[in-house]
Amino acid sequence: MARKLAVIGAGLMGSGIAQVSAQAGWEVVLRDVTDAALTRGTDTIKASYERFTAKGKLDAADAEAALGRITTTTDLDAVADADLVVEAVFEQLDVKHEIFRALDKITAPETVLASNTSAIPITKIAAATGHPERVVGAHFFSPVPMMQLCELVRGYKTSDETLATVREFAESVGKTCVVVNRDVAGFVTTRLISALVVEAVKLYESGVATAEDIDLACKLGFGHAMGPLATADLTGVDILLHAAGNIYTESQDEKFAPPELMRRMVDAGDIGRKSGQGFYKH
Ligand SMILES: NC(=O)c1ccc[n+]([C@@H]2O[C@H](COP(=O)([O-])OP(=O)(O)OC[C@H]3O[C@@H](n4cnc5c(N)ncnc54)[C@H](O)[C@@H]3O)[C@@H](O)[C@H]2O)c1
Repeated sequence: MARKLAVIGAGLMGSGIAQVSAQAGWEVVLRDVTDAALTRGTDTIKASYERFTAKGKLDAADAEAALGRITTTTDLDAVADADLVVEAVFEQLDVKHEIFRALDKITAPETVLASNTSAIPITKIAAATGHPERVVGAHFFSPVPMMQLCELVRGYKTSDETLATVREFAESVGKTCVVVNRDVAGFVTTRLISALVVEAVKLYESGVATAEDIDLACKLGFGHAMGPLATADLTGVDILLHAAGNIYTESQDEKFAPPELMRRMVDAGDIGRKSGQGFYKH
């Protein structure tokens, strides 16, 4: 019998996780707080399946079958019998706490509860439950159907069994995992990109090299698909300022201290692609 996955939150990430999981054969129950959010989520999934089908990467019948494996609900109790739960709601600790507190009550004590948080320590999320050993980070990347990586994060009390279960799930939906063994701010991926972006901005701000040359150096010298300043524009200078600032606050490690230029760019509204201007004009 197909295993049942519950996805909490039908936004950008939740709908993507539901999409790849249904395609991989999981029975998926997708939960959000309003019918409108659920409709948006399922419309996104349908449109994505259609694109894959049009490109010949997915059989129309398989897409139909995958859609048939997704049910939607606004009722949290409907996820009580899931084998695994992945939470992908707003990046706010109080909202996540409310969900995990409720999940802790309605699911079996051995059900693994994963969070897709990009930056909140898993240990803090797990603290809302009576079974922190079954709480783990499963950090998927956007767009979920395209991005290969899933960063698994151990909270302070996450058990080996929990980590093994979430790894098996992520691999079953076609992802490759890296494991973060200690619940540090920014995990591995956000720490690496923050350190690189901070140094790139410092080099640019002090006139050592142009933005184009800094990005070219990373692309041609290290084989990066995209340079750090172009990445900052794509992700949002505001988002990276916030991420680096948080890691700096927690770690007190100077290499994450956001350069003044990043702050001024955000003050001025030059946050990258979203605003039309960042390190580059878009
Ligand atoms: N956007 C990204 O690139 C990205 C990448 C990796 C991880 N994340 C993380 O994934 C999580 C979700 O991000 P997103 O970009 O999908 O956000 P989003 O705003 O697109 O979607 C969040 C969804 O959660 C729903 N929601 C809010 N409260 C809820 C509740 N109590 N129960 C059920 N649903 C609820 C909202 O209605 C919304 O549909 C965040 O923790 C974020 O940090 C995001």
